[in-house]
Amino acid sequence: MSYTINRVVVIGSGTMGGGIAAHVANAGLPVYLLDVTQPIVAASLDRLKKSKPPSFFTPQTADLVSIGNLTDNFSWVAEGDWIVEAIVENLQAKRELVARIEQVRKPSSIVSSNTSGLPIGAIAAEASAEFRRHFLGTHFFNPPRYMKLLEVIPTADTDPRITEFMQTFGEDRLGKGVVICKDTPNFIGNRYGSISGATTLNYILENGYTIEEADAIMGPLIGRPRTGMFRLQDLVGLDVSSSVGENLYGLIEHDESREVLRNPKLRHLRTTQLERGRLGDKTGQGFYKKPPKGTKGEILSWFPYRMCER
Ligand code: NAI
Repeated sequence: MSYTINRVVVIGSGTMGGGIAAHVANAGLPVYLLDVTQPIVAASLDRLKKSKPPSFFTPQTADLVSIGNLTDNFSWVAEGDWIVEAIVENLQAKRELVARIEQVRKPSSIVSSNTSGLPIGAIAAEASAEFRRHFLGTHFFNPPRYMKLLEVIPTADTDPRITEFMQTFGEDRLGKGVVICKDTPNFIGNRYGSISGATTLNYILENGYTIEEADAIMGPLIGRPRTGMFRLQDLVGLDVSSSVGENLYGLIEHDESREVLRNPKLRHLRTTQLERGRLGDKTGQGFYKKPPKGTKGEILSWFPYRMCER
């Protein structure tokens, strides 16, 4: 059987779902972008249109994205040749969504999860064999338009022709560099990134570096992106990175490095930020805060004092 993708459905319109929808539209494909409520998805599309750097190739590209909600418009899923799940990083929520998708998807449509590291096989474990043959992980990196890497993760049940097709589609149509990964916790990039990131953050906290000092060192100075350590946390979303770290901890019982994920100072920092609603760019502030719209000024950072003295 040969596969063609003419219509894409993305479920979850946050940082990643929105970015994936925009990039699929950049490839000239019409997209349905769905979220829990209409105001959420409308706000997401609005944010995408204004994003910097731009998510869309041109302002007109946004016309390829139609927005809907999961109550009134779930039947749109039936039109998708490729359905992408990009909701909250929670196994139960993803399983419940998979069960709903299975009720309406057309046979032979491809379904994928953008999870950062939950076992792909576990997300679809309760689905039918036909569904599982068409299900795999497609893990984009943030922001999806600009990050080259796309991890494609087949499970033991994924039809190898689907994996091959998605690899070619990812490379030729979406312009990505595809790496096929095993379905192991956090796959490749995030397995490395979660442990090394937590190790670095712990060092920063234990040794009392400020946010500015840490980002000055962890950025272009050592050949890394300008986001450094804390800007990256704001870009990703602290709720997402916290869930990814917690999920990973539970999945790697025998990994000698896993305790770095539960450093008490790191947990305290995360809890405090989460309680204050400082999740990062998506809530308007995280470790950094941009000046109010329409005003000029420096990007501010929280904690102008040494964090370990808190
Ligand atoms: P987000 O928090 O920005 O957006 C999640 C969206 O899903 C929200 O719009 C929310 O309304 C919706 N949602 C939440 N629960 C839902 C449910 N039960 N049913 C339907 N929709 C629901 O999250 P983000 O960052 O876009 O992450 C989405 C997925 O992508 C997660 O699995 C995450 O681990 C993964 N990911 C995140 C990256 C990042 O840098 N933020 C990078 C790569 C993967």
